[in-house]
Amino acid sequence: MYCMLKLASLFVAIAVSHGWLFSDSGKKLNVLEEISLWPLPQKFQSSAVSFQLNANSFQIVHAKESSAGPSCSLLQDAFRRYFEYIFGEEVRKQDKSRKKAFNSDLVELQVWISSADPECEGYPNLQSDESYELSVDQPSAVLKAPNVWGALRGLETFSQLIYEDDYGANNINKTVISDFPRFAHRGVLLDTSRHYLPLKVILSNLEAMAINKFNVFHWHIVDDSSFPFLSRTFPELSQKGAYHPFTHVYTPSDVKKVIEFARMRGIRVIPEFDTPGHTQSWGNGQKDLLTPCYSGSTPSGTFGPVNPILNSTYEFMAQFFKEISTVFPDAYVHLGGDEVDFSCWKSNPDIQRFMEQQSFGTDYSKLESFYIQRLLDIVTTTKKGYMVWQEVFDNGVKLKADTQIHVWKERPQYQDEMARVTAAGFNALLSTPWYLNRISYGQDWMNIYKADPQNFTGTDEQKKLVIGGEACLWGEYVDATNLTPRLWPRASAVAERLWSDAKVTDLGNAYERLAQHRCRMVKRGIPAEPLFVGHCRHEYNGP
Ligand SMILES: *[C@@H]1O[C@H](CO)[C@@H](O)[C@H](O)[C@H]1NC(C)=O
Ligand SMILES: *[C@@H]1O[C@H](CO)[C@@H](O)[C@H](O)[C@H]1NC(C)=O
Ligand SMILES: *[C@@H]1O[C@H](CO)[C@@H](O)[C@H](O)[C@H]1NC(C)=O
Repeated sequence: MYCMLKLASLFVAIAVSHGWLFSDSGKKLNVLEEISLWPLPQKFQSSAVSFQLNANSFQIVHAKESSAGPSCSLLQDAFRRYFEYIFGEEVRKQDKSRKKAFNSDLVELQVWISSADPECEGYPNLQSDESYELSVDQPSAVLKAPNVWGALRGLETFSQLIYEDDYGANNINKTVISDFPRFAHRGVLLDTSRHYLPLKVILSNLEAMAINKFNVFHWHIVDDSSFPFLSRTFPELSQKGAYHPFTHVYTPSDVKKVIEFARMRGIRVIPEFDTPGHTQSWGNGQKDLLTPCYSGSTPSGTFGPVNPILNSTYEFMAQFFKEISTVFPDAYVHLGGDEVDFSCWKSNPDIQRFMEQQSFGTDYSKLESFYIQRLLDIVTTTKKGYMVWQEVFDNGVKLKADTQIHVWKERPQYQDEMARVTAAGFNALLSTPWYLNRISYGQDWMNIYKADPQNFTGTDEQKKLVIGGEACLWGEYVDATNLTPRLWPRASAVAERLWSDAKVTDLGNAYERLAQHRCRMVKRGIPAEPLFVGHCRHEYNGP
């Protein structure tokens, strides 16, 4: 196994109040050869019969019954990727000493896509079937899935079943697995506005997401601080709104790369263009988009949220979101709608007059709703569905039935908000307990792990409306230097909560598997931070 330090659960005492986890004697225990699947599959059975895998004889192939073949580049690419994960160093060593397969060897993994359409060329979506069945036995292991999305999840699981023995040889035990996710939407939010994130960092985190069976990249691409998205329709937005117009932008080809890299790993890319608040950077490149704030009877020279009373605002939004709908293939776009500061609107005499005309009184949330309502109508004409932060629901904006409400606030309690959102018949997504930008001393992954999106008072019908959740890593204090270790393996705790059965909650067992899973990420080149004292067989030695 990767980790020689193993804390047998018998000896594990958890002092949750201190966030520590330790063995009572503090002594190192010998490794038991044991697999460390993460997230834990729904049904799993293994036996003590073990086989060896040898880089010179083992191969991943299409089963002859499969509806997919070598023309499925998504699978071909995944076969290569997992072969390298399994044999990495062995392949590099070009060990020719053992060309022939032994009797005890496993010679192939057959991948069998069972439905008529393998979806090789498609994009994953909210309804995608990610289930798979895996059987490891001699002479062939078989991975059966309705389509490529389940096959990708199964390939990851297969690679996790493999462990190194004392001589560095790859072993796998006879195993039967039947697996599927508990929730359909399992996301990670990255923020590329507070700090610009180079493409390489985004791609390597998509890789880490696939290792953890996440399936949504929520790209919080622009915000107050900067506008790095290069729009073909409105190029001034990034020319004047990015930190730098050439080096700190995502060009159309960058965005395409991210979407394709994600697709190859069964990950959806949902962009967020948050309005009417969080838009300071938009104002640099788009005249009259933001509300001029007043100090007394004169403009103060500062600007507030998007100006909701001008026709030009809606003409701009219509053109902008038309472009967005063609750039991003996913059926959903995140429209934000959070934390709108009303003080600038209140100060502006034109807005005050508009409030009177509309009979809004002094209730500025009505003005916000007026704006959001029109924006939603605009986005609806682009044939996209939308996600919004919870304030849009809280303010009583009229929403399409398929709107997804993203719960993030701590007050009122998120359990109550999840109950209200689902009682109103909307799909709900949870992020409140998963703001991973918040850090503290000790093992905070445990609280992340314990939170459950369906732990609220409500009917079964309400619980079914919970489609999942997202781990969020906001960027105020995060850039490429610290993003990956801050996110991993803490986001892995969210990954298991969203994939595995609700009953998988044992912290001692999770600790053992997560410590090894973290070492596996390290072995694959991802600088995931440690959970606690210990070591990995293959330590991180730089990028
Ligand atoms: C795998 O097989 C070995 C013997 O070959 C056995 O010692 C070990 O307990 C098995 N592991 C699992 C998880 O079944
Ligand atoms: C804005 O549009 C509405 C209806 O589309 C129209 O009645 C109104 O005159 C327009 N306002 C301005 C200032 O152009
Ligand atoms: C469920 O939520 C309640 C608070 O509403 C909390 O006390 C309890 O520990 C939670 N249980 C789980 C399993 O998350």
